[in-house]
Formats: sequence, C-alpha cells, structure tokens
Amino acid sequence: MKGQDGSATLWWDAGAGCLCYIEQTLLPNEFVVIGCRDTGRLATAIRRLEIRGAPALGVAGAYGVALAAMTSAATSREQFLDDVRTGAELLRSTRPTAINLAWGIDRVLAVVGKTENMDQARKLALDEAETIRREDTACCHAIGHYGAELLPESCTVLTHCNAGALACSSWGTALGVIRSAVKAGKQVRVIACETRPLLQGARLTAWELARDGIDVTVITDSMAAQFMRKGAIDAVIVGADRITCDAVFNKIGTYMHAVCAKHHGIPFYVAAPLSTFDGKSRELDVVIEERGREEITTMGNRIFVPDAAAVKNPAFDATPMDLVSAIITEKGVLRPPPDIPSLLTCTNTK
Ligand code: MRU
Repeated sequence: MKGQDGSATLWWDAGAGCLCYIEQTLLPNEFVVIGCRDTGRLATAIRRLEIRGAPALGVAGAYGVALAAMTSAATSREQFLDDVRTGAELLRSTRPTAINLAWGIDRVLAVVGKTENMDQARKLALDEAETIRREDTACCHAIGHYGAELLPESCTVLTHCNAGALACSSWGTALGVIRSAVKAGKQVRVIACETRPLLQGARLTAWELARDGIDVTVITDSMAAQFMRKGAIDAVIVGADRITCDAVFNKIGTYMHAVCAKHHGIPFYVAAPLSTFDGKSRELDVVIEERGREEITTMGNRIFVPDAAAVKNPAFDATPMDLVSAIITEKGVLRPPPDIPSLLTCTNTK
C-alpha cells in the first residue's frame, strides 16, 4: 500500500530519513502519507490510531526505537542508551493490549545494546526494524497460504475490525487469508462488520478489499448473528492482538461473533503471526485498553449520549480457546488443544 500502489502500509524513506505511514484515521475519505521523524510524534500517531493493528504496531515500535537512536544528540554512550530507552518506554505506554508493539520495541532495544559505538548502534537499530518489517510481510503471505487451504472453493467469510494490509506491513493476516484464497482462484465474498466505535471494518477493511476488487459487503456489528442464523456465513476469520494459552484478544465484538459461530456450527478462525503469542500470561493478566468516552458519544460534531450517562469503551475483548476452531500462523494451522498450549510453551522466551 506504499504510496498508491498497494505494496506497503509503513516503510522507511531512506532519502528523506523518516518513517512514512498511511494515516488511517482519514480513510476512506482521504489518502494521506505522513513522514515521521521523531518518537514523540510516532507515539501520538499510535495513540490516535493513525497507525494501528497489532503487526503494524510491532513494526512501528521497532522503527520508533530506531528513530530514538537516530535523533539522540548524546555525546556519551550512557546518555545515548538513556535516550533510546526513554523513547522506547514512551512508545510502549501508548497501547497496552497488542503484544506486538512491545515485541518490536524489545527486538530493536536488544540490538542497540550490542555495541559500544553509537553510530553502529543507530545503523543496527534501523537494520533490525527493516528486518522486522520484511519478516512481517513474509509471515502474512505464509498465513495467507495456510489459511486459504481451509476455505471452500466458494464461500462467504465474516470478518471483524481490520486485520488487513493496513494492520500489518502489507497483505494482512485475516485479509491475507482472503487475498491468498482469491489469488488461488477461490470465490470469496466478505462480510465486513463495521466495528463500532471507530469503524475499522467499514472504513478500512471495506476500503482495502474494494480497492483489490474483492467482493465486500458492510453490515453493522449487531447484524452478524442473524446472518449466521440464515446460513449466509461459511466461516469467520479475525486477527488477534494477543494470544495467551487460554484466550484470543482482539477488537471488542470478536467474542460475540465467536459465540454465535459456535452456536451455528460455523468455523471460527484466528489468523496471527507467532509474534502475537504471549506464552507468559493468562487471560486475567492482560490489560485491556480503555479508550475515551468521546469515541462512543460523538460522531462528527453531533453528540449521541447525554452528558449524565456513563460510558464504557474497552477496545478489545477475550475469546476463550474453546470457541476457536483453529489459529492460522506462519508455521501452519494450530487446532486447540493441545497444539496451542504446547506451542506457547515452545515460544515463551520471556
Ligand atoms: O484498535 P485497533 O484498530 O488497533 O485494533 C486492531 C484489531 O483489533 C485487529 O483485529 C488486530 O490488531 C489484528 S490486526 C492483523
């Protein structure tokens, strides 16, 4: 999705010396690419969801640490490391639920600490961020490959939020599966739930699929159960922000689709890279981001909720593993249990 050609969502512009990304809050009305030169601006972009989606946050966090290294004017190594760590912690504090953000930050932090030479550390940091971006794209294509095999030759797939190219460096996880299936010649129609309150499904999923010529229909979140009941959905595929051994964390509303899918005997698939797995935590350890009241109460300039009413706005929910038919990763398809608990043990490096 680089520029207008669809090849990247965020990338390093070596000539300009900045991180470029598609500003997602403006889609689908405006296509704007932002050039970001410092960690503070990047932290704001992540908080505002200009960059969003777990794998994209991992890549952004990685570039953010590289930016902190590049912009540090420190003259001593001690001060340099302090600057980089301060930038890293600012980025880490922006969004707590998607584990990929901390994962990308920590990978670059680790290489910065490997050398005494500050210029060398800056170069290593940027190289590592570039590697993370390239790996993410490769993961998405591998997920797409494995996931496409699960879909019938002709099917309608329901998805929630945006787990597409915009949520990754490119291609996507859940939408990567759909793209790969279409590329393999399958007839895939997509039902995109609008995803209240920030409409990532209506604004972003519908935008990127329509742009690729993939059949997409937007429904409100509350229509999904009835569509399943009427036999209009063959599979549900969503992404994930974090996977513990007992639950999948994803955009609020995912759990309700999983419950409905189970009730109607529809497979519920999660597509996510191994960088989304958290082998250290269980469901109750995970912090669910609570976002601002205004995301629920206002649309444009209009207020829809009286001031006296309280509002809750958790950005994510947890879907217990027994509702998940399979998790599609870059290494293959895992069916819980026992695949997922054993894999989590293997990948737990913390
Ligand atoms: O709040 P957002 O838009 O960052 O939430 C994104 C999601 O919930 C996605 O489904 C998830 O990050 C997976 S993206 C491949």
